[in-house]
Amino acid sequence: MNIILGVTGCIGAYKAAEVLRQLQEQGATVRVVMTPSARQFIAPLTFEALSGQPVLTDLFQPGLNTRIKHIEIARWADLLLVAPATAHIIAKFAHGLADDPLTTVYISATCPTVIAPAMNVEMWRHAATQENIATLRARGVEIIEPESGFLACGEVGPGRLAEPARIVARVMAVLRRPSSERRDLVGQHVLITAGPTCEDIDPVRFITNRSSGKMGYALAEAALARGADVTLISGPTHLRPPREARFISVWSTEEMYEAVMRHVNEATIIVKAAAVADFRPRERPSSKIKKSPEPLHIELEPTPDILAEVGRRKGHRLVVGFAAETDHPIEHGRQKLAQKNLDVIVVNDVTAEGAGFDVDTNRGTLIDRRGDIVELPLMSKREMADRIFDHLVEAFLRPERTESDEE
Ligand SMILES: Cc1cc2nc3c(=O)[nH]c(=O)nc-3n(C[C@H](O)[C@H](O)[C@H](O)COP(=O)(O)O)c2cc1C
Repeated sequence: MNIILGVTGCIGAYKAAEVLRQLQEQGATVRVVMTPSARQFIAPLTFEALSGQPVLTDLFQPGLNTRIKHIEIARWADLLLVAPATAHIIAKFAHGLADDPLTTVYISATCPTVIAPAMNVEMWRHAATQENIATLRARGVEIIEPESGFLACGEVGPGRLAEPARIVARVMAVLRRPSSERRDLVGQHVLITAGPTCEDIDPVRFITNRSSGKMGYALAEAALARGADVTLISGPTHLRPPREARFISVWSTEEMYEAVMRHVNEATIIVKAAAVADFRPRERPSSKIKKSPEPLHIELEPTPDILAEVGRRKGHRLVVGFAAETDHPIEHGRQKLAQKNLDVIVVNDVTAEGAGFDVDTNRGTLIDRRGDIVELPLMSKREMADRIFDHLVEAFLRPERTESDEE
């Protein structure tokens, strides 16, 4: 097991020594590649002594390039891990820059890449960083989300390097996966709905809900990374859709219904992560309702049931639904699974800490039509997206586990 450990210029660089040691405990041979900035934080000698291998610190080091070093190392590796990864290296990776030892290794490596970001909370939340992260994810790079807590800069929030044990566990999980599994949705067309829908009361007012769309967008990124074609149909959100997805923007449940029905036939997997409005005003006047001291009564009528219609038309397609519940989640989830003819339902108690709307994490329970129940503990929405696809592949798509085996 050959691992390149990339170290970049941040306070947490010293923790890379512990990551290296734990990787060795797992039997890995580790070679360290440092950016010039990383050397401001920790000496290459530490890594040289711990790894028993020379450390690559300079792209143009005389004597090193009789065989071009960064290419040789990239070919040698089974995995490239960057821990900690600065906002700067993430941006360079995303844009394909290659002006230091680590970026040149990244762009010439064909092995899986895992990065563990560490930075100030605002650097992490910045749109530039988040867009770069999304680009890398869509490209198949595994991101180990930073943890929340007190940061070296004195601020509190997400940005702290994940614990070395978590980083090493994730690296081992990636290495254990057979290479075919990483692209296990090649040939699948995944149709995903995301976000809220909005129902007009009049030309200026509307009813909506608190869905952020994060779960649906995470599902789209995960499906793309695993090789699927993705159509993402989304209500209004603040998120940037993955560039590789076919993106359809909608406003109301009716518009989402029409878009889904237009594209359902080309899909092989349908994931309904949108929180659609179940009711809409019966009357939608064409001019603004005047303010008045009298109470205003708005009669609501049900909107089209997209999930039920997809369930009716599904044929051999796999259909995954989500159910946001506030009481008896498993019981309600089972009922919805049967009523709507779903293959899988992911139920979450939106009142539980770390789950629900507008947070980056989720937790829930996956129930499938064969009765399997999988607990999904608190994790990032991106990780949860992968766990859902892992289950679909394992339970329904693997050739050795077909419908006839299930009887
Ligand atoms: C004291 C100090 C701490 C820093 N900590 C971080 C950090 O935690 N995360 C980060 O992204 N950048 C951090 N930076 C900024 C990076 O060092 C800077 O962006 C540098 O260009 C990164 O280069 P590299 O990505 O090539 O290693 C820090 C800078 C200083 C001076």
